[in-house]
Amino acid sequence: MALNVYVTRSIPEPGLSILRRGCGTVEVNPRDAILTRAELLTAVAGRDGLLCMGQDRIDAELLDAAGERLRAVANYAVGYDNVDVSELTRRGIGFSNTPDVLTEATADLAWALLMACARRIVEADRFARSGRWTGWSPTQMLGFDVAGKVLGIAGAGRIGAAVARRAQGFEMPVLYFNRSARPELERTCGAARVPLDELLRRSDFVSIHLPLTADTRHLIGRRELALMKPTAVLVNTSRGPLVDEAALASALSDGTIAAAGLDVFEEEPRIHPALLELDNVVLLPHIGSATGETRSRMAEVAANCLVAMLRGECPPQCVNPEVFEHR
Ligand code: DGY
Repeated sequence: MALNVYVTRSIPEPGLSILRRGCGTVEVNPRDAILTRAELLTAVAGRDGLLCMGQDRIDAELLDAAGERLRAVANYAVGYDNVDVSELTRRGIGFSNTPDVLTEATADLAWALLMACARRIVEADRFARSGRWTGWSPTQMLGFDVAGKVLGIAGAGRIGAAVARRAQGFEMPVLYFNRSARPELERTCGAARVPLDELLRRSDFVSIHLPLTADTRHLIGRRELALMKPTAVLVNTSRGPLVDEAALASALSDGTIAAAGLDVFEEEPRIHPALLELDNVVLLPHIGSATGETRSRMAEVAANCLVAMLRGECPPQCVNPEVFEHR
């Protein structure tokens, strides 16, 4: 039977070619916009496979709307807090994500935010363009040194470890908070595993790299921000709801911490209005993996996974391999 798949957003061509070669019908959302819930529920009906974005909620309601034929879902993202994996598994539907291929790009962006905050790059750019610059000054736009400062990594998975590796060039001591120890990170970067509160107290730069779960929602709130140094910078490139945005906006405006760099938000694309008013926060539109090379690799991985799972094979990026054990 010819396979019929739906792609919820146009992805780079290498991924679409793989799908066209591997499936009979490939329909792609023609608009450069997130589908509304109603559009998504209609679009998935009768499909064998679905290639979705991190913004699409994949739950029992959607699986009911898709119907009996749906055998595989590939998420075009490494994070999959948008997906009810246990519901997919219960229904025997394979599910994959895109680990590894976006690690370096996302680590680069975390560092770009860290540097932008430390040296007030975005604020200084706005000032240089404003016509208010009257010349060099010994006290203008003073930021913070980065070299030798303490970097705290909350979540030492692939991306957190890649951020820590980059710190070696800046001779920064690295602390990390993680459920399990990472001996390799300790050996290669001299990183020390500490409880979250200790990491927040001791770090000059804190970068968040944990997945969003019920346990990590609002991991960083008013209490945690109050533990940080008044000169500290917080960077978040993981998922917005890990940080209580209202508490962060207060902490940034009353000097509890010095600055923040955010690529993700609690209710994307909405950004908390109080953050929009502040100069000491750098705001990016969720571009952690947004390089041409990385997005193409993500497209290839997601498409290859979808085709493989539809053939009954279990690709390495499959999150619920148990689905394929009894096929
Ligand atoms: C990811 O891969 O999880 C990125 O945040 C894109 O959604």
